Amino acid sequence: MTSIKTLIMGSLISIIVASGCAVSQSYNEEDLGLRKVDLYSEKTVVGEPTSYSTVSAGESKTIQRSFENAPPLIPHDVEGMLDMTKENNACTGCHMPEVAEAVKATPIPKSHFFDMRTQKVLTEMSSARYNCSACHVPQSANEPLVQNNFKPDYRKESEKSRSNLIDNLNEGVK
Ligand code: HEC
Ligand code: HEC
Repeated sequence: MTSIKTLIMGSLISIIVASGCAVSQSYNEEDLGLRKVDLYSEKTVVGEPTSYSTVSAGESKTIQRSFENAPPLIPHDVEGMLDMTKENNACTGCHMPEVAEAVKATPIPKSHFFDMRTQKVLTEMSSARYNCSACHVPQSANEPLVQNNFKPDYRKESEKSRSNLIDNLNEGVK
């Protein structure tokens, strides 16, 4: 069994070793940020260009959901679709449940035809859902600067590609 004395000695040694390391290591200004240029000037900063899918709707492949009931990412080109006005919403043109099947698009789910405040089913899509791109965004093909180790857990295999929020909306709430 490890005695308390040994434990205290051990921790003391690690503190000494750790502080020794901190002193011997130094960093340049250019090393501190993720962008690897002088942090005090924007002059040489070049943003990585975004590169969105250029595959047309109907020919793209859907992207696995980031987690259970995450809003799906838009896998297709949205060029010309995102000047959303009161009169014109291209997204509903293909994604409304009554047309979606014909164009092989994922239909807008029941949760979007539901008033979250009154908890009532609506006959029309909730106006809170009108601006699709507030929640659904295209994915840019870029290498992440920081590796993300998050691994989603889906309770059902189908949740990797379909949502069911309306069925478990108040789960755990009494
Ligand atoms: C011309 C018809 C059309 C239009 C317009 C359209 N989509 Fe799509 N969308 C599709 C189809 C078809 C798919 C399935 C993937 C494919 O076949 O390209 C899809 C897939 C998606 C998906 C992924 C669904 C999933 O199950 O993962 C999202 C999110 C989406 N679209 C959102 C939008 C948004 C937001 C707009 C408006 C900016 C929009 N779409 C406009 C046809 C369309
Ligand atoms: C306030 C955020 C928000 C807005 C606005 C919104 N959505 Fe969603 N959407 C979600 C979330 C979250 C999900 C996944 C959970 C669920 O089913 O509601 C989802 C799911 C979807 C799905 C996948 C359905 C399935 O069965 O897997 C489609 C398709 C979709 N939305 C299309 C749209 C379109 C088209 C619009 C615009 C008319 C829109 N959404 C507006 C948040 C939003």
